[in-house]
Amino acid sequence: MKNKNVIIYPGSFDPFTKGHYDLVKRGLDIFDHIFIAVLENPRKNCLFSVDERIELIKSYTEDDERVVVESFKGLLVDYLKRKDVNLVMRGMRMLSDFEYEFQMSLTNRKLYNDFEAIYLVPSPDCLFVSSSVVKEIAKNKGDIS
Ligand code: PNS
Repeated sequence: MKNKNVIIYPGSFDPFTKGHYDLVKRGLDIFDHIFIAVLENPRKNCLFSVDERIELIKSYTEDDERVVVESFKGLLVDYLKRKDVNLVMRGMRMLSDFEYEFQMSLTNRKLYNDFEAIYLVPSPDCLFVSSSVVKEIAKNKGDIS
């Protein structure tokens, strides 16, 4: 039997945003524990190193013992199997997220039959927030507060 009280929240988190944090808080209303799994992929052109991304996430979550932040390499489904968890959560902001998420879910299900995903809708204040938008504004010295 899979661990039912735990959910994995995977992503690039380059960087972690208030939108991601909003989702973590929502996840904690449903699950006892969340593993935030930061993808370590040298081929993906991330602005921040894995250590920097983890450090930033921990600055939001370190006081909460229900949250564990760690990195993973390779396939998400292999990481899930190692954790003995079959469930991930992801954010669904706009219709434009749907195709990407749907394809990813179907691929993961093909690779791991037990794979399940739930999609949480963030607060309206965070609907437009994305890591790319935050990076773009920061690079141009805009206000990202
Ligand atoms: O924040 P992102 O970049 O949208 O997160 C995407 C992520 C990390 C969840 C996805 O790219 C992933 O799981 N990568 C690991 C490699 C993998 O398992 N690929 C096959 C399924 S698409």
